[in-house]
Amino acid sequence: MCGIVGVIAKRPAAGLLLEGLRRLEYRGYDSAGLATLEGGKIARRRARGKIRALEDRLREEPLPGVTGIGHTRWATHGKPNEANAHPHATGQVAVVHNGIIENYKELRRELEQKGCVFQSETDTETVAHLLSVYLREGASPAEAAAKALPRLEGAFALAMIFAGHEGLVIGARRGSPLAVGHGEGEMYLGSDALALAPLTSRVTYLEEGDWAELTADGAVFHDAGNNIVSREAQQTALSGAMIGKAGYRHFMLKEIFEQPGVVGDTLASLIDPETGRVALPDLPFKWNAIQKISIVACGTAYYAAKTAKYWFEQVAGLPVEVDIASEYRYRSPPLHDKGALMVISQSGETADTLAALRFAGERGQKTLAVVNVPGSSIARAADGVLQTHAGPEIGVASTKAFTAQLAVLACLALDCARTRGAVDETRLDALTQALRAVPGHINAVLQKSASIREAAQILAEARDMLYLGRGLYYPIALEGALKLKEISYIHAEGYAAGELKHGPIALIDEDMPVVVVAPHDALFEKTASNIQEVMARGAKVLVVTDEKGASSLDPPPFWQLALPEIDPFAAPLVCVVPLQVLAYETALAKGTDVDQPRNLAKSVTVE
Ligand code: G6P
Repeated sequence: MCGIVGVIAKRPAAGLLLEGLRRLEYRGYDSAGLATLEGGKIARRRARGKIRALEDRLREEPLPGVTGIGHTRWATHGKPNEANAHPHATGQVAVVHNGIIENYKELRRELEQKGCVFQSETDTETVAHLLSVYLREGASPAEAAAKALPRLEGAFALAMIFAGHEGLVIGARRGSPLAVGHGEGEMYLGSDALALAPLTSRVTYLEEGDWAELTADGAVFHDAGNNIVSREAQQTALSGAMIGKAGYRHFMLKEIFEQPGVVGDTLASLIDPETGRVALPDLPFKWNAIQKISIVACGTAYYAAKTAKYWFEQVAGLPVEVDIASEYRYRSPPLHDKGALMVISQSGETADTLAALRFAGERGQKTLAVVNVPGSSIARAADGVLQTHAGPEIGVASTKAFTAQLAVLACLALDCARTRGAVDETRLDALTQALRAVPGHINAVLQKSASIREAAQILAEARDMLYLGRGLYYPIALEGALKLKEISYIHAEGYAAGELKHGPIALIDEDMPVVVVAPHDALFEKTASNIQEVMARGAKVLVVTDEKGASSLDPPPFWQLALPEIDPFAAPLVCVVPLQVLAYETALAKGTDVDQPRNLAKSVTVE
C-alpha cells in the first residue's frame, strides 16, 4: 500500500508528482504529500485525506523545484493526520515510504539517544533520521543510503531527496515494488509503471534488494550487497492517458459494465478461434505429472481460487488445496513432491501472495501466476504467467478482475481435464461453448440493473446480512458478501447453505435479509429448502437464480432475479454480476465512498 513517486525534471516537479500520485491513489488515500528541493533546501506540502486536499493546499502555497518526491498514504503506523503524512524530513533529507520498517522502535530509541527529535508517530521517520545521522558524519547521499538500508528490517520501497543535491533521487526496494522511468533528460521513480505512464513508457523494475541513484542523465543500480549491477529497461504498453470514468458515476460501475468485454478478451486469449478449444501457452508443469495443485491468493482473488477448486476437482479430477496467502506462508505446509502452486492476484503486488509464491518456489514447486498486471512482482517471480485481460482496475472493490480470473481458471480446468482425459471431447466442447456464451449473459444481467436497484433499497436499511450458496455458488456467495461489506459497510457473512443449520440460522429474524445464489442445478432443491427455512423465520430473502429456479420457488421469495439459463460450469461468472451491482446500488443508497471505501486500499503490499 501507499504510492510513491520521484522525479528529476527539467520542468516544475510538483505537477508531475501530482499526476503520478493521482494514478497511485488506489494504493491509499489517508493523506498525501510532496517534497522538492527549493534553492537546495527541502520544502514540503502535506495534507490529510485524498490528493484533492493536497491540490488545494498547493494552490494556496505552490511548491517550486524540479527535483522531488511524492506520496499517497495508507496508514500503518500512526493516525492519518498531517503530522504523520509523508514525506518525512529532517533538514538534510526527505523520505517517502511504502511498506513497514519492522525494527523502527529499536531504531527510534537509538536515534533519540543520539539527539534526533521525532515529529511523527511513523516508522518512516526513522529512515529520515538514520540517513541524517550518516550524512552528518560526512557520508555522501549514496554512502548514507548504502549504510542505512541494511539496517532496516521489513518490506519497503523508499524514495529520498537530499538538501544541497539538486538533481538526485535515491530509490530502494525490498519487498515492495519500485520502477525507474527513463525520460529525455529527466528520470522518474514510481511504485508502478502506471504512475509513470504519462511520463515515459521505458521503465526498469528494481530487483529485490536493489537501490538506485537517479540523476538527470540516468540511473546507477546497486544490489543488496551494494555492488553496481545492470538492470534492463523495458517498454510498457500502458497508456499515458489518465484512466477516466467514461461517463459512469464511479469507476466501480464502469468496471462492472466492462465485464462482457473483459471476459470476452480474456477468453479470446485462451481459446483458439479456429478449433473453439482451449489453447494455453506452455505451463511450467504438466497436468499429467502433478497430483495436486495448491491455489493461494487474498481477498477477491481467494474466492476465485475457491471457485477453481470446484472446477478442477469436478471436471478434471485433480485434488486442489486452496489457501489464504497470509495463512499458507506461515503454516509451513508440507509440499507434495508431485504438487504445483498457483497464485492469483489482480495487482501482482500483494505482499502475502508474493511471499507464498516465493515460499513454494524456493522449495522446488513449479509456480504459475494468474495476474492482471504484466511486469508486476508476482508476474516476474513466477515460473509461468497467465494474464487476465481486465485492464487497469481502479475501484478498490474488485469486480472485472474477478470475472477475468474466473475466465482464466475455467480455461485452465478445461485444459487440465483434456490432458488428464477426465472428460470426453463432446463434453469439453460444450463446457467451452458455455464459457464463450458468458459475455452475452453478463450483458443480459446488466440490463436488469433497475430491478437490482429496488432490492438495494431494502439492503441499505439492514445492519447485518447473510449470503448463502452451495457448490460453485458458495464462493460466489462469499464474494457477494465481501463486496457488500467493502463498500456499504454493512456486516455481511457468506455461508455454505448447508451450514445454515449449524449456527447462522440463530441470527435470522425479520431484520436480517438473506441473499441466496441458487440457479437451478443438481443441488437446487436442497438450497430451495434452506430458502424456505429462513423465510419461515421471517427473513426477507433475495434470490439470484435462473428462469427454472424462479418458477419452482413456492412460495416465492421477497425478491428474485432470474438469470438466463447457462451450464452450471460457467454460471459463477454470470451469478456474481448481480451481486456486484447489488453491493454498488446499496452503497449508493447509503451514500458511502464507492470507489475509495474507508480503511481499504487496492494493493496490499504490507502483511
Ligand atoms: C485488497 C483489495 C481486494 C483484492 C485483494 C487481493 O484487499 O482491496 O480487492 O482482492 O487485495 O489483491 P490482488 O491484487 O492480489 O488480487
